[in-house]
Amino acid sequence: MRTQVAIIGSGPAGLMLGQLLTLAGIDNVILERKSADYVLGRIRAGVLEQGSVELLQRAGVAGRLHREGLVHHGTDLSFDGDRLRIDFTGLVGRHVTVYGQTEVTRDLMAARTATSVYEAEDVELHDFDGQPWVTWKKDGVTHRLDCDYIAGCDGYHGVSRASIPSDALTTFERVYPFGWLGVLVDKPPVAEELIYAHHERGFALCSQRSPTRSRYYVQVPADEKVESWSDDRFWDELRRRLDPATAEAMQTGASIEKSIAPLRSFVAEPLRFGKLFLSGDAAHIVPPTGAKGLNLAMSDVAMLADALIEFYAERSSAGLDNYSAKALSRIWKAERFSWWMTSLLHTFPENGPFGRRIQRAEFDYLSGSVAAQQSLAENYTGLPA
Ligand code: FAD
Ligand code: DHB
Repeated sequence: MRTQVAIIGSGPAGLMLGQLLTLAGIDNVILERKSADYVLGRIRAGVLEQGSVELLQRAGVAGRLHREGLVHHGTDLSFDGDRLRIDFTGLVGRHVTVYGQTEVTRDLMAARTATSVYEAEDVELHDFDGQPWVTWKKDGVTHRLDCDYIAGCDGYHGVSRASIPSDALTTFERVYPFGWLGVLVDKPPVAEELIYAHHERGFALCSQRSPTRSRYYVQVPADEKVESWSDDRFWDELRRRLDPATAEAMQTGASIEKSIAPLRSFVAEPLRFGKLFLSGDAAHIVPPTGAKGLNLAMSDVAMLADALIEFYAERSSAGLDNYSAKALSRIWKAERFSWWMTSLLHTFPENGPFGRRIQRAEFDYLSGSVAAQQSLAENYTGLPA
């Protein structure tokens, strides 16, 4: 079997890259380790930058997003119960759209006309510094796919980054001593906009998926087990971290999903090794504060798709040669913002009283400074490519 671009991973990065290439007439095959149902069952991010919405439009998959996505013109911060609204539209003339990653994935999967192989086991990448090819096993049979390029879109634990000789990559990492315990519930959101809350007991986030479905998170220690959290314990803890009026107004119920996500900052450089390119979580991880993970995956593959389209249309490798540097410039800015928002809003065991006063001063500075609010708003709604 032969294709132009072999894509490893059918998350949002792989699916979007495949769609953009197919629309440009470039042959591609996606190899995914899990089943389609498993991929669709994962509950992850929920906030799209305007640039991601525009990309979904370009990819021809924004119909349901425009009907069902919720446009948010601002967000709320809460610090020990004191509230501050960041007015994105008023401050920087931009907004975000609340539309779950699950729905983005579903729309991209429904639109796909090119080949996808699900449940591809033991994917291996070969000769990607020469004439690349990929092998995998399915139902006990080994398959081979020859290609011009490989796009590693297989997430943080994927095979693509792991296949690159370790001396060819430099990695940068910060692991946080906590995670987010998330609950999905079929109850209306407590507020029209999201609430990011700092409390001495830890961070909390009130988010949403639709007018009838809410997503809530609380910061928990990194070694916490989800089995230790009954729904009642979760709601009690969340209420304690919110201002009294919000805690009172919140509608609770039986969780329909509950999971813990660890928090990590990570970047691998460069994003190219011969004919292999890394995009999305395969190349970098941000802590979820600031909702950048999915959006970064989208901007990476937009750049990679344009570079590949340029290569096949003009036989120019200028875009491919520039991909790593261009994408990393945007990635590091999102890393900085996610790290900053994480630092402001979480409790850090090592911070002590000095660290807490600094966090309070940061919140007070934000509250009194239009410039600081503008900086938050322009980063949250998405920096240009
Ligand atoms: P992924 O979505 O990870 O997709 C990679 C795909 O590759 C997967 O389908 C995987 O099965 C497949 N794969 C892996 N290994 C192989 C292999 N060897 N062979 C073939 N296929 C393989 N971001 C936010 O902004 N907010 C959130 O609340 C949030 N919550 C998250 C919760 C969790 C548990 C995780 C892991 C991430 C979360 N993120 C969140 C981050 C966001 O979901 C990711 O940034 C986004 O999914 C990146 O998309 P991707 O396509 O690069 O990677
Ligand atoms: C959601 C996740 C985030 O990381 C975030 O910053 C905002 C919302 C969510 O899952 O809804």
